[in-house]
Amino acid sequence: MEKIVILTGAGISAESGLGTFRDEGGLWAQHRIEDVATPEGFARNPALVHSFYNARRVQAAKAQPNAAHQALARLQRDWPDEVIVVTQNVDGLHEAGGSQDVIHMHGTLAGALCSSCGHRWKSAEQMTPADPCSRCGRPTVRPDVVWFGEMPYFMDEIYDHLSGARIFAAIGTSGQVYPAAAFVHEAIAAGAQTFELNLEPSTGVLHFDNILTGPATQTVPKWVDDLLKRR
Ligand code: OAD
Repeated sequence: MEKIVILTGAGISAESGLGTFRDEGGLWAQHRIEDVATPEGFARNPALVHSFYNARRVQAAKAQPNAAHQALARLQRDWPDEVIVVTQNVDGLHEAGGSQDVIHMHGTLAGALCSSCGHRWKSAEQMTPADPCSRCGRPTVRPDVVWFGEMPYFMDEIYDHLSGARIFAAIGTSGQVYPAAAFVHEAIAAGAQTFELNLEPSTGVLHFDNILTGPATQTVPKWVDDLLKRR
């Protein structure tokens, strides 16, 4: 049994043209987190928050999966045991690249969520504060994404997967946002071999057994080839 758990972040989609958060000129250099990625920001100015996610939804819809997303789909297909992809990304590029059962711990741009009744459905490309919930009719619709101060989704399921991991990889994530940044510790506790694949070593780099530095479209296909050769 050689179960693999992979955590991905914005860096895996960077070469598909989607900006990361903390790199120079990234999303958090252009927008204040408190304004567009907190429940308080949404309560203050829902139109601003919707317009931020509307723009990201349009951009994500135009983006194509890259060789790194496709390599992970190939690993899922060809590895003899489970390969679990957990992503912090709200784009749909893992699925577009062929991955199955992706765990979207920070939600997805494709989803709408009613804050009154909890109903979820596929969001329109453009959302507005006046949109009615498709079940209860109240105009309390938000993007189905996780904001700072909220609990990421599927945590029990993710910890369960980490406890059975033999191999853990963090790809394209700066390791600055918890709880995802601590997944490597869960994997180490489970006895997994750990890999970091990132453009440059992240803040958590010391915790990983193997560091593969470079653009994801180069490092990820090579890493997948090497894993598949050793099976
Ligand atoms: P960050 O923007 O914090 O980090 C992106 C990482 O990707 C950095 O370490 C870059 O060096 C690396 N990177 C950039 N280009 C790359 C490339 N071509 N190949 C490989 N790596 C590359 O993004 P995340 O770690 O995903 O949460 O951020 C985590 C969370 O913080 C996000 O999900 C979001 C954000 O605030 C919420 O909005 C709740």
